[in-house]
Amino acid sequence: MVWNPFKIIPKKFLGIDIGTSTIRIVELSRQGQRKKLENYGEITIGSACTKPFRSSEKSDFLLSSQNISQAILAIIKETKIQTRKAVFSLPDFSTFYTNFELPLMPKKELSAAIQFEARQHIPLLMEEVILDWQVIEKKDFSNSQKTKLKILLLAIPHEVVNQYREISKLCGLELVALEAEAFGLVRSLIKDDDKKKIILVLEIGDRSTTCSLIDNEVLNISHSLDMSGSKLTEAISRGMSIDHKNAEYLKKEYGLKETEEEKNIAKILLPLIDSILNDIEKITQNFYRAEKKEVEKIIIAGGTAQLPGLKNYFEQVLKKEIEIANPFAGIFYPPILEKPLKEIGPGHSIVVGMALRGLET
Ligand SMILES: Nc1ncnc2c1ncn2[C@@H]1O[C@H](COP(=O)(O)OP(=O)(O)OP(=O)(O)O)[C@@H](O)[C@H]1O
Ligand SMILES: [Mg+2]
Repeated sequence: MVWNPFKIIPKKFLGIDIGTSTIRIVELSRQGQRKKLENYGEITIGSACTKPFRSSEKSDFLLSSQNISQAILAIIKETKIQTRKAVFSLPDFSTFYTNFELPLMPKKELSAAIQFEARQHIPLLMEEVILDWQVIEKKDFSNSQKTKLKILLLAIPHEVVNQYREISKLCGLELVALEAEAFGLVRSLIKDDDKKKIILVLEIGDRSTTCSLIDNEVLNISHSLDMSGSKLTEAISRGMSIDHKNAEYLKKEYGLKETEEEKNIAKILLPLIDSILNDIEKITQNFYRAEKKEVEKIIIAGGTAQLPGLKNYFEQVLKKEIEIANPFAGIFYPPILEKPLKEIGPGHSIVVGMALRGLET
């Protein structure tokens, strides 16, 4: 091969999402505006170990950094990924979100004002957290004295950040950035047609569920909900007196489908799904009260987005446009992967958002 000094070497980054049930890695590259899926891989509990990869009850991981690193290295080995620059997602239960308004002020004063205001809003010791913030809106009242800045503030415990540093070191990876899950969802799921809209992204994972409001491509607020995929499985297991494995199978196979032999499963699941819908209605009503803006569309992400019949049921009840997340739209990949990527898409929304973040650097 002739060495070509003008050949542009594409940028390549890994996104890594350590979920409760699955660890996912996605490798993306970019040449100009063209983004390409280079590689992807995952490992689920059961195949790697029997305990969840992380616990949502505590603000740290249930497994040791060593075990998680070994699982990550197993994926890297299997996929033969060479890239070492990685962006990790921060679990939403370890990230505290709030938003508040401040009067208009010079940029250099903003940081101190936010630090001061943070103490009133964050139920954690300031010495124990790292603060990250964005100005999400400037409410202009033509008179600069009345102009308000709306701030989205995040607090992340040092302890959590340190553990991610340790994991990347053990894996021989270069930690390029750590980012809250909700920002990854905005980046991977809000496509050109939706940029001006008010979108609610519901991410239903195994142990955690978040509901994020996105206005004009900017994250306004993110809430944690109680219901999640593992609770659906537990309810089937209890309701039908069957073990976890069978309950998990029936959930994925029948979900909310309404035919005769499947009615039992739907009957068990519907009250739980209704509790998510109730929460969504409350969140959208509060948003309307505060901002006088209606949510126009709901995107469902996370592994549980694939629950059979979920999209139809949401459409019936909420009477809004509902979409199942497809973070791979807009990314090049071999046509043969079309079907599998559509299936795994919802669960990959965060990890794709992390790899995209790397490409922005
Ligand atoms: N086809 C399907 N139908 C219903 N549920 C499904 C389907 N596929 C996966 N799930 C559920 O999705 C959940 C896993 O989702 P996901 O991979 O997003 O979670 P996670 O990232 O590992 O966990 P968390 O984000 O809560 O820490 C599991 O509860 C699983 O049973
Ligand atoms: Mg997850």
